[in-house]
Amino acid sequence: MAAALQTNIRPVKFPATLRALTKQSSPAPFRVRCAAASPGKKRYNITLLPGDGIGPEVISIAKNVLQQAGSLEGLEFSFQEMPVGGAALDLVGVPLPEETVSAAKESDAVLLGAIGGYKWDKNEKHLKPETGLLQLRAGLKVFANLRPATVLPQLVDASTLKREVAEGVDLMVVRELTGGIYFGVPRGIKTNENGEEVGYNTEVYAAHEIDRIARVAFETARKRRGKLCSVDKANVLDASILWRRRVTALAAEYPDVELSHMYVDNAAMQLVRDPKQFDTIVTNNIFGDILSDEASMITGSIGMLPSASLSDSGPGLFEPIHGSAPDIAGQDKANPLATILSAAMLLKYGLGEEKAAKRIEDAVLGALNKGFRTGDIYSAGTKLVGCKEMGEEVLKSVDSHVQASV
Ligand code: IPM
Ligand code: MG
Repeated sequence: MAAALQTNIRPVKFPATLRALTKQSSPAPFRVRCAAASPGKKRYNITLLPGDGIGPEVISIAKNVLQQAGSLEGLEFSFQEMPVGGAALDLVGVPLPEETVSAAKESDAVLLGAIGGYKWDKNEKHLKPETGLLQLRAGLKVFANLRPATVLPQLVDASTLKREVAEGVDLMVVRELTGGIYFGVPRGIKTNENGEEVGYNTEVYAAHEIDRIARVAFETARKRRGKLCSVDKANVLDASILWRRRVTALAAEYPDVELSHMYVDNAAMQLVRDPKQFDTIVTNNIFGDILSDEASMITGSIGMLPSASLSDSGPGLFEPIHGSAPDIAGQDKANPLATILSAAMLLKYGLGEEKAAKRIEDAVLGALNKGFRTGDIYSAGTKLVGCKEMGEEVLKSVDSHVQASV
């Protein structure tokens, strides 16, 4: 037993896609296709999955920003757009076509807009857009989901929390993404012996699944402020008891990281009471889903938050954490910044292109500094713009940065 445990927690070689987390000089990206590149240019294949609702609007803007920021760093992108979610259901009758999975797997990184909408809400489960997204995450084996929530000084007043509570919040939720109750079996709806319908799911975590996400979280915390809070429900759930045990055992390998544990109900409360106490949070799939939405509102709008989903050896999946917002789709009202910032995460964590990523992050701050705001982050005295105009302002900001640095 002891030997098995030892084997399981032996330090592993940190994977290429996850190595960017260490913020050390980044490794050469593992899938550079030099043959097709122009002289002196690095070339990457990006799969774009616009999806549904506001997805296509925000993806087309993020694509332009990615291209522009990349070209200033000598990067060339070739984009391939594929259907997913409701768009794929309408086109070919399934939420994740085989061709989409293959294209995603063969590319260097995947940028997704959003999936879902009223139209498909009543579909059977295997024909729901959300099922396509879960299949994609499983297919790409992207078990580590990084969801940063940072309150930008420019947007403090967009937060629903008091200025003194929100100001300076800078936290990272590390969510386990391919296990737990989302994928556990047995699951289903059946009729019991009394003839009554029963719905059931299984929260299940194997030791190796806990260890690998915990390692990502320890590494993440190490490169941030060195504090890691593991969130579970170990006072009730067996899966959480094992979770806490494994995370605690790993802590010995990261003496520079201060580890604490918190029950999820308390964490939900602490996030609105005093969010500044958190640096890095690691948690399971479903708690991470809920807590990352909560954390996003501290920052003012869910429309601001990007995410990165990483595997240990394949392309990462990058997506805004907001949904498809069908109520405002096609009306040029969406905030494209979460997707633009997801493109920055793609460059940084997916390709190891930190300079190009920084160009995008600076350009977003530039547009905000000039006072441009979409409806979700608007406050008196700022300039209300639509999705396209916000995108144009970010693009201009990418350019003006160049002029300033020439
Ligand atoms: C998210 C979303 C998804 C999830 C849905 C759309 C399946 O809420 O990415 O947070 O629950 O993971
Ligand atoms: Mg969610």
